[in-house]
Amino acid sequence: MRHLISITDLTTNDINAIFQRTDQILHDGFQPTLAHTVIATLFFEPSTRTRLSFETGILRSGGRVISVTDPAATSTTKGETLEDTVRVISSYVDAIVLRYPEAGAASRAAIVSTVPVINAGDGTGEHPTQSLYDLYTIRQALGRTDHFHIVCLGNLKYYRATRSLVRLLARYPNVTMTFVSAPELAMKTDILDELTQQGINYQVTTNLTSVLPTADVVYQTRMQKEWLSDTEYQRLKDQYIITPSVAAQMKPGAIIMHALPRVNEISPTVDSLPQAYYFKQAALGMPVRAALLQYWLQT
Ligand code: CP
Repeated sequence: MRHLISITDLTTNDINAIFQRTDQILHDGFQPTLAHTVIATLFFEPSTRTRLSFETGILRSGGRVISVTDPAATSTTKGETLEDTVRVISSYVDAIVLRYPEAGAASRAAIVSTVPVINAGDGTGEHPTQSLYDLYTIRQALGRTDHFHIVCLGNLKYYRATRSLVRLLARYPNVTMTFVSAPELAMKTDILDELTQQGINYQVTTNLTSVLPTADVVYQTRMQKEWLSDTEYQRLKDQYIITPSVAAQMKPGAIIMHALPRVNEISPTVDSLPQAYYFKQAALGMPVRAALLQYWLQT
């Protein structure tokens, strides 16, 4: 039994197999490979895409779902711990997809679970399944998973999706990375130290304009009110807004990505431009997550 807690839990062979399966789903449609499977989606933090794409992928693959969408309706309100909740639910189902507001929660769940735990976002920790379909999106858009320049933009300190993505991209050849943010929202040193140790070429800057012309991917992030004080949020929220004039500085074929939800950081006037890839990215989350579960529960 394997858990998926960090993006580093996936080998490159796993990723290739999941992408091959996703290709098949997109080409031939879904097969009932999760028939007789019941999966619990336990969401102790709000979600639109992650929960519903997992659940749709399970249902389209012939599986069934039980779900927590309102933590207040569970016995955690009586004081039950995450560990006890997971210990019990893992005795009912074949896998648990868990979102929780604390970094490290998925690891804690995995220690007590008798079935695979898939991390669907743990606070400011990681969001490995997001990164999996982010990479699939890049592969679709650029036709490769190596030899490109990615600019990660905005809220890099708290944004778990870019933490996982950077860890994932570090294993592919010649991916250069630029981190653009206000100094107080810079990528944390644990990730930067990993990149340095692996000899990855990266730069940190506050200047978006200087790096736009060489970017193949601009990955925008949301200013997360949930992790910032009101003063910080008001000061930082509009610092890097992607508008059509920003998109116009990107080279032909370059794309704009975002895990979504967005608030104000990408103008809706960008949505119809060829660079706008974030809704295609969100759509790919469903088949990639279906392929992941099919693969994970059968190998
Ligand atoms: N990208 C993402 O995790 O979106 P949700 O919070 O809506 O699941």
